[in-house]
This record gives sequence, structure tokens and C-alpha cells, in this order.
Amino acid sequence: MDKLLIEGGVRLTGEAAISGAKNAALPILCAALLTREAVTFTNVPDLQDIATLLKLLAQMGVKINREGDTVTLDASGLDNPVAPYEMVKTMRASILVLGPLVARCGEARVSLPGGCAIGARPVDQHIKGLQAMGAEVGVEHGYVHAVVAGRLKGARLFTDMVTVTGTENLMMAACLAEGETVIENAAREPEVVDLASCLSAMGARISGAGTDVVRIQGVAQLHGATHRIMPDRIETGTYLCAAAVCGGDIRLTRTSSSYLDIVVDKLMDAGCEIIAERDSIRLKAPERLAAVSLRTAPYPAFPTDMQAQFMAINCVAQGTAVIRETIFENRFMHAVELQRLGADIKIDGNTAVVTGVARLEGATVMATDLRASAGLIIAGLVADGETLVDRIYHLDRGYEKLDAKLLALGARVRRLA
Ligand code: UD1
Repeated sequence: MDKLLIEGGVRLTGEAAISGAKNAALPILCAALLTREAVTFTNVPDLQDIATLLKLLAQMGVKINREGDTVTLDASGLDNPVAPYEMVKTMRASILVLGPLVARCGEARVSLPGGCAIGARPVDQHIKGLQAMGAEVGVEHGYVHAVVAGRLKGARLFTDMVTVTGTENLMMAACLAEGETVIENAAREPEVVDLASCLSAMGARISGAGTDVVRIQGVAQLHGATHRIMPDRIETGTYLCAAAVCGGDIRLTRTSSSYLDIVVDKLMDAGCEIIAERDSIRLKAPERLAAVSLRTAPYPAFPTDMQAQFMAINCVAQGTAVIRETIFENRFMHAVELQRLGADIKIDGNTAVVTGVARLEGATVMATDLRASAGLIIAGLVADGETLVDRIYHLDRGYEKLDAKLLALGARVRRLA
């Protein structure tokens, strides 16, 4: 199992290019299931999660052509609307095939998903929404089985909590439903907007994406299109934190600060200078960061996917930060690992109190989920001596060419098999 060896204490400088957003690419690739015509996507990141999804789509009968960051999907031969356990167990986002499959084929069997071990993460809202649209949905032998005779019916949907993939699944299903669907309490994440713009390019009629009420007028069929995946805001934020923690000065290209308002604000509160340009962001870090408190919540509030990275920078900041996690109940697993590096963190339920220490010390730590691993890398970059991050397959699920990009920024990292 791959590990990453980091020699800490090097200031990051230089440039790195940001990849397409994993969390936009996953639903958008699933959108190709909704049409018989070929759909082409550009800026698709080369990630384990994307490879897993493409494999899943291929076994359903989708033809795939991938050249560099361009992927063309042709779902005209879609004949097997099944997502088996073996293929979805590592990735919760596989549930995103459910809505498109029911809408297009009238039936789907999708294994209950796995993914990061960061809490229970049920899919009841996805199911409830499809039922309201006329599908019969049951869970049997670990599979969600959904069937509808004829087309789904437009409906007024209200989710109990803001759910990103739930909103995306229902939005995709509604595109081919009869009549109007209104999703209230919809997720406003930029990735939902990117999906909506891809669906619109395919002929869907959607308004309100990016607000908490999304309206979809169903159409009988969608057609082919070309769509460029938005830049990855979490990858962007992660490299900004990596530079911030070690007094760095970096420029990230092929990205934008527009979806990162609160993250950029917090980095400025911590003492960083941020220069946002049209397609790039530059960060200049102070000698020592100031502690910054935060509370995670759905967009546009602070993203839970940036929580671990900010916990890491707070470990060496001046002062004490209070971090409240409100999205997932089990998302502080990185705290124990950060403590192994000498961090002063106290956990009480969903609150972590982090008091900055003058220095962290390199040690062996274990990555537990995708973003937790990013937090450990950031801590390793500033720790004295060597830090060995074990189980970095979690990182390969979500960060394209992580080691190469860190090396380009001057970090001393080495992947060990
Ligand atoms: C997406 C992101 C993930 C991010 C998360 C929160 C993708 C592929 N993944 O995950 O990186 O951390 O949003 O921003 O886009 N919930 C239910 N029932 C449901 C659905 C959700 O109880 O049917 C709960 C979840 O357990 C969680 C909360 O709602 O506590 C939010 O989850 P959700 O927004 O659905 O997360 P994902 O879409 O899986």
C-alpha cells in the first residue's frame, strides 16, 4: 500500500495547475446516462474515483473514450442498469447513477454505497425524492431497487437536510420526468450549478441552480453536448493551506477564487495575503499564521471538505481555534493522527479546540479518509523531520498527481510502495 514520505520544513514556492473538480465530474459523467447521444467532457481529473465510476458506467453498456482530460461517453447501448456492490463499495458517489438510470431505463439496482468512513451517510433523501416522483423504491439485500412504469412524474420535493448528491440525483431524474419538479432546500454548491449547466447544454430546462429552490421542466429526451468541468475548489483550498502553513508564496493556475470566498477570507484572517487574478490565485503566507475558528455548513458556508486542512494549519498557528463540524458526525479522525505529530487538540463531540504549538514533529500517521489525509500532508509539510503518511490511496481518490504538484512547489516528498 502506497505511503508518502514528507520531509518537513520546506517553504512552498512556485506554480501548480489545479485539476477539474472531482465532485463536479462525478455527477456530470453520470448525466451522460440520460441520453442516447454522445456527450463529451473536458477537464476531467485523472483520479481513482473517476476511474471507478467509468468502470461502473462501462459495465452498464456505456461506451467510453478517454484521451487525456477529455472523456466521451456514449450511452446509446445502455442495457444493464445495475451498479454492483463490488464496484460501488469504495465510492459513495456511485449512488449518482440511481436517478439517471430510473429516469432513462425505468429501473435501477444500485448497491448501497461505501466511501469515506466519516459517518452513517444514508441515502434516504435520494429514495424519498424518487418515490415522490412515482418510482417504487425498496432496499433489498443491500441494493436500492427502483422501478417506474413509464416516465417519472414531476413533483414538489423537499429534502430534510441539504444534500449535495441528493440534489444532483433528483435534478438529473427530473430532467426526463413528465411535468415540473421543484426541489426545495436544494444544495447550492457550485458543483450543483456546474451539473445544471451541463444538463442545460444537453437540452434540460432548469432554473434556480445555485439557490435553494431548483425548478426543472421535464423533457422527453436530452441530446449530446460538450461541457468543461469546473476547477476543483477543494484542491485549490488544500494547496493554499499547504503554502500557508509553511510560510510559502505560490500561484495556483487554472482555478478561481470565486467559489472559495469563505476559505479565502479565513486564510486572510490567518494573516495570508491573497491576490486573486482571473484564472489564478496567489498566496503569500506570513511568518506565523494566526488561529482561525470555523464552523462547517452547506455552501456558501465553510466546506466540511476543508475542515481537516484548517485543523492542520491551526495546529501551528498563534492562539486557539474552535472548529465545529456540523455536516458529518465522525469527521475528526485526523485529530488523533495530528496529535501523534505533537498537536494540541481537544475534541468534545462535534467541536475541536486546537491550540497552536511552536512546532510539530514528524511521525508515522495513517490517512483515514480523503480530506483527513490532506490535513496530514499539510501538517507533515511543516513538521520537523520526516512524516510518513500511510494509506494514501485515500488521497489518490481525490487529488490528481498530488506528489508531482507538491514537488513542483518545492516540497520534499517521495511516494513509497
Ligand atoms: C458531498 C460531497 C462530499 C462533501 C459533502 C458535504 C460529492 C461526490 N461529495 O457528499 O465531498 O463532503 O457533499 O459537502 O459531491 N444525508 C442523509 N440522507 C441522505 C443524504 C444525506 O442523512 O439521503 C446526510 C449525510 O449523512 C450528511 C449530510 O446529509 O450528514 C450531507 O450529506 P451530503 O450533502 O448528501 O453529502 P454527499 O452528497 O454524500
